[in-house]
Amino acid sequence: MKGTIAGMNRHLLGLKEIDANDILSILDRAAYWEQASRRSDVLEGKFVANLFFEKSTRTRFSFEIAERRLGAVPLAFSAEISSVGKGESVYDTLKTFEALGVDAAVVRLPWSGLLADIAGRIRYPIVNAGDGVNEHPTQALLDIYTIRRHFGEVRGLTVAMIGDIRHSRVARSNLWGLTKLGAKVLFCAPPNMRAAELAEFAPYVPIEEALRADVVMALRVQFERHEGRLVQSPEEYRSAYGLTEERVSAMAPHAIVMHPGPVNRNVEIDDAVVEHPRSKIFAQMAAGVPVRMAVLERALA
Ligand code: CP
Repeated sequence: MKGTIAGMNRHLLGLKEIDANDILSILDRAAYWEQASRRSDVLEGKFVANLFFEKSTRTRFSFEIAERRLGAVPLAFSAEISSVGKGESVYDTLKTFEALGVDAAVVRLPWSGLLADIAGRIRYPIVNAGDGVNEHPTQALLDIYTIRRHFGEVRGLTVAMIGDIRHSRVARSNLWGLTKLGAKVLFCAPPNMRAAELAEFAPYVPIEEALRADVVMALRVQFERHEGRLVQSPEEYRSAYGLTEERVSAMAPHAIVMHPGPVNRNVEIDDAVVEHPRSKIFAQMAAGVPVRMAVLERALA
């Protein structure tokens, strides 16, 4: 089974490594969990360690709610007050939780690549909650879930992602997931925020063309990942790439606005657009719980 390491674990490390059927079965199962905010005891007695080595609000707490709704026991972990502060490595931290008998772990790391390396040496399933600029598979799943819920079908849609593609794990996971389900992906970014290695999978287009897409997804300018100054000023960025009310009014009448959050209001997206009738930003957040329930169930049940 794809996404399984050595036939034992149902890791979810990225959407690049799983197939369309696997993605669709997670989305279908999320739709089941979404109905009337279902709860279950399907994971009763299972311990899930939420190992966040990088800051998070949406991902961390929607996983914890998902775990509780399925009857699992969430174990909160904070790198600041753990033995990481004494120099313990990520690998030794995950091995420690293996020794303690956890059933699964949700892991967020500021580095790319390390998680896949460690996952091959860990016996319990690992869910990637975002690793560096590599992947954020559950964010893309909830984005795709939101798109599918709105349009009924992903195949045939055009999804434009505007902004800091180079530093975006969300852009990468959405690219892999959306194209596997038959959508066309367009990127729009200033030259210093482009990921050259992705250009063969999605073309970079001017903002006027991006605004003609069915889904226009603004991405956060990831100031904390920038080495040097990539943006002269927030005003200059907003003027060239910001999702302003004026730009939203130029979109097709049926098109929707998305953003994975957290938002830099009035930089990549205007205040008025965050809560605009076309905005799905809060629907995306809400979808995080049922989608992560489906992912945890896939990993453990
Ligand atoms: N979208 C997202 O991953 O948000 P958090 O960093 O708050 O989890």
